[in-house]
Amino acid sequence: MCGIIGYTGREQALPLILGGLERLEYRGYDSAGVAILEKDKLIVEKKAGKIRELVKDLWGKPYKGKAGIGHTRWATHGEPSEDNAHPHTDEKGEIAVVHNGIVENFVELKRRLETHGIKFKSDTDTEVIAHLIALNYKGDLLSAVLSAVKELKGAFAFAVISSKEPMRIIGVKLGSPLVVGIGKEENFLASDIPAILPYTRHIITLSDGEIADITPEGVNLYDFNGNPITKEISLVPWDIISAEKAGFKHFMLKEIYEQPKSVGDTIRGLVSSEEILPFHLKDFRRVLIIACGTSYHAGLVGKFWIEKYTSVPTEVIYASEFRYSDIPVGEKDLIIAISQSGETIDTKFAVNFARDKGAKTLAIVNVVGSSIDRESDFTLHTHAGPEIGVAATKTFTAQLAALYFLAIQNTPREDKLLQDLIGTPSLMEKVLEKAEDIENISEKYLKKRNFLYLGRYLSYPIALEGALKLKEISYIHAEGYPAGEMKHGPIALIDEAMPVVIIAPKDRVYEKTLSNLAEVKTRKGKVIGVGFSEDNHLKDLCESYLEIPAVVEDLSPFLTVIPLQLLAYYIASKLGLDVDQPRNLAKTVTVE
Ligand code: M6R
Repeated sequence: MCGIIGYTGREQALPLILGGLERLEYRGYDSAGVAILEKDKLIVEKKAGKIRELVKDLWGKPYKGKAGIGHTRWATHGEPSEDNAHPHTDEKGEIAVVHNGIVENFVELKRRLETHGIKFKSDTDTEVIAHLIALNYKGDLLSAVLSAVKELKGAFAFAVISSKEPMRIIGVKLGSPLVVGIGKEENFLASDIPAILPYTRHIITLSDGEIADITPEGVNLYDFNGNPITKEISLVPWDIISAEKAGFKHFMLKEIYEQPKSVGDTIRGLVSSEEILPFHLKDFRRVLIIACGTSYHAGLVGKFWIEKYTSVPTEVIYASEFRYSDIPVGEKDLIIAISQSGETIDTKFAVNFARDKGAKTLAIVNVVGSSIDRESDFTLHTHAGPEIGVAATKTFTAQLAALYFLAIQNTPREDKLLQDLIGTPSLMEKVLEKAEDIENISEKYLKKRNFLYLGRYLSYPIALEGALKLKEISYIHAEGYPAGEMKHGPIALIDEAMPVVIIAPKDRVYEKTLSNLAEVKTRKGKVIGVGFSEDNHLKDLCESYLEIPAVVEDLSPFLTVIPLQLLAYYIASKLGLDVDQPRNLAKTVTVE
């Protein structure tokens, strides 16, 4: 939520910061702004709306400064407006701050600062940081930041620049992500690695309670008491090309197509010795899976597999509900935290909560070095590469691969089951070959305002995921439901105007799902079926049919989800919507 970037070096800072902000735009896009050091003065430019609005505004302005900070916002405190856009400055305009996260005690701090006669220009929590630093400034920016940080409560990361100490930028991390990029006579700060990947692959990932003091000449790290610390520099393996659209209209479509590769890469990564875990699921009395959004849906699929192959009772809980519940958690429990970003604050806090209670924590994350990766006892990495589209697609199927791999460990049929998993990417390729049919089918449903998605057993979480994909990118209301539950209420919604997506691979509940389909048809619902290519019986019952190749029961979610991702994509794209950056959303949600 919100992206921040800082640059100090030998190049003009503005184009570099704007480029970085574009790569961070997935984190929020309500407004954007920059502060550039121009002849020892801070120039602040900001604009409501997406980064392209800011870029248009800056067109032709001759800023040549070689240090600056930038921000792209996902609003929490204060509406998305120019006044509330970052950077925020102190009263003299000598100190500018960009911030990601929430200062929870900002009301109290604001009141205190107002007693010093300070006049606030925005409704944000961020502005208190700029004024606090100014109040503590006695000639050394680092000391002022250290004093200010002691007063702040919450989870945040911010970067500060001051016209009094040109070329110096201070970055602070507590809760929200922040990395330092090491260049040649230039250094960077950013919320996420892709923002600075075109310039450097040498990265230091800051941990909570750490501060980076950067100038073109070097980087110094400190803890919140001002004690110097040292950290390793890591070399990022990602190639920038993998973060480009490669000819696809949207990142989401590219990422849907990348799934056979990302599932294959994930399986290869998992079978390599580095990922072997020093325990088995059966060592625990219970497994608790905690996650949000799409990762939660992956967890629901994982529950079926884990219970089938290990008989260990498994619960799946929204991370945001888990932390504040009274659910008993202890050392006999294994917590599996699933998060593509590894930064979702609800999931991160849930991990910390469970660890404090003595439970073992296992993360399934896509971003190496992310907070949840570092703060969990163990990690299984998915190898999906950077996912830019706000709607999660390839990270979902990669999470499924990790969960299935975990569930089948040490089962008598492990080798055979693993072979089935290894064969899945080529079946996923076959689903993608039908994309054009799905594009044509999507035309029929562009004007619909409600959809119902139904599935049973392993297809129930896929119904939830299909509905989530549609609503988040097309703004069409969609509800996922267990097909067998429909008769207990949602059946009242069904009439000739209601498209009902029914997921019915030939599995243990196939016949039951077909009965539910009949219930829909009897009430004139329009059925969009997802099923096996050769299942002509099912095909004949449906108004539209999304085909997948036949697959063993366990692995159907890898295939059934793809037509639903494509259906949502084509509907949103044909409606002319911003598929990669849907309104009100952000790729990484670092607020509670
Ligand atoms: O990074 P995470 O996997 O923790 O993110 C969880 C959710 O925020 C995420 O899945 C969200 O629901 C996506 N927009 C789904 O497409």
